[in-house]
Amino acid sequence: MFIGKNTYISPKARIVGFKSDNPNIVIGDNSYIGDDVQIMCDDFVMGDYCKLQHHCNIHGSNIKIGHNAWIGQYSVIDCLGGVSIGNNFAIGPGSFIFSHAKYGDTLEGCRFDYIAKLQIDNDVWLAGGNTTVYPVHIEDRVMTLAGTVITKDLISNHIYAGAPAKDITDKIGSQFVLVTVEEKYAKMSKYLDEFGWHDSLVICRSIGEFKDDGRTYFDVDTRTYTKRNSDIEIAFIRSLLPSKAKFTPFDITSVKETVWTEAKPDGRSHD
Ligand SMILES: CC(C)(COP(=O)(O)OP(=O)(O)OC[C@H]1O[C@@H](n2cnc3c(N)ncnc32)[C@H](O)[C@@H]1OP(=O)(O)O)[C@@H](O)C(=O)NCCC(=O)NCCS
Repeated sequence: MFIGKNTYISPKARIVGFKSDNPNIVIGDNSYIGDDVQIMCDDFVMGDYCKLQHHCNIHGSNIKIGHNAWIGQYSVIDCLGGVSIGNNFAIGPGSFIFSHAKYGDTLEGCRFDYIAKLQIDNDVWLAGGNTTVYPVHIEDRVMTLAGTVITKDLISNHIYAGAPAKDITDKIGSQFVLVTVEEKYAKMSKYLDEFGWHDSLVICRSIGEFKDDGRTYFDVDTRTYTKRNSDIEIAFIRSLLPSKAKFTPFDITSVKETVWTEAKPDGRSHD
């Protein structure tokens, strides 16, 4: 088991394997696991600055959760079929994420008995609470409203609501609008001013400006930073969470060009 620096795990939480006596459990830095959370997984990986609120239950074979996740109170994630969740994910309290359907006796002819992989990409916000997710693929920047039941794949930067989920982007717009690097640079500089300017925190417009000089560099274009895990860096990142800005540690292999666009009222944002 690997538990990162500054990660708090309630003494009332329970972390064990599902079938294995020797599960792979990796929890990143600066994360939080609340009272009565149960993790029963053979392979559980979760990144930095994640919050598993009290009474969450995560069980099954394998799950990978990226950085900056916020999982609401009393939520249940079944990862029997395998679950992959990207960075900056949030789901409201009392929600259910399923990667299997089995219970009725196959002996008696029950037709439903499967496990399936569930994939959630980056910046997905399943808002409100009481959301239900079937084993589908939810693309980057999707948002859903309270009580949504997600039974089909969801398209990048569209908003959905209802049971079953319907695309209401025409009515409500998309979760994100395009912001230029220059605008992001100005906003981040303001956030740093509000936090209290510090000479070891540097805002950049590209990763080309990163230096290995002991300071922490934040690139607003790729939303990555040169993680040092210093006290001042942690305090600044905490001041940005949950809704000003989310950054992930710089890793050259994980930086990819952003390909999403604003959702068009008449259909897919991209193919
Ligand atoms: C998300 C939110 C800010 C969007 O605000 P908005 O742009 O003003 O949109 P509205 O709330 O007017 O909703 C737009 C439409 O979707 C419908 N809608 C809203 N929530 C819905 C839901 N959970 N399920 C189904 N339809 C919903 C509204 O009835 C409205 O439809 P209408 O135009 O036919 O009347 C707002 O819906 C909201 O505050 N939701 C509740 C708070 C919440 O979920 N907070 C999350 C905590 S993290």
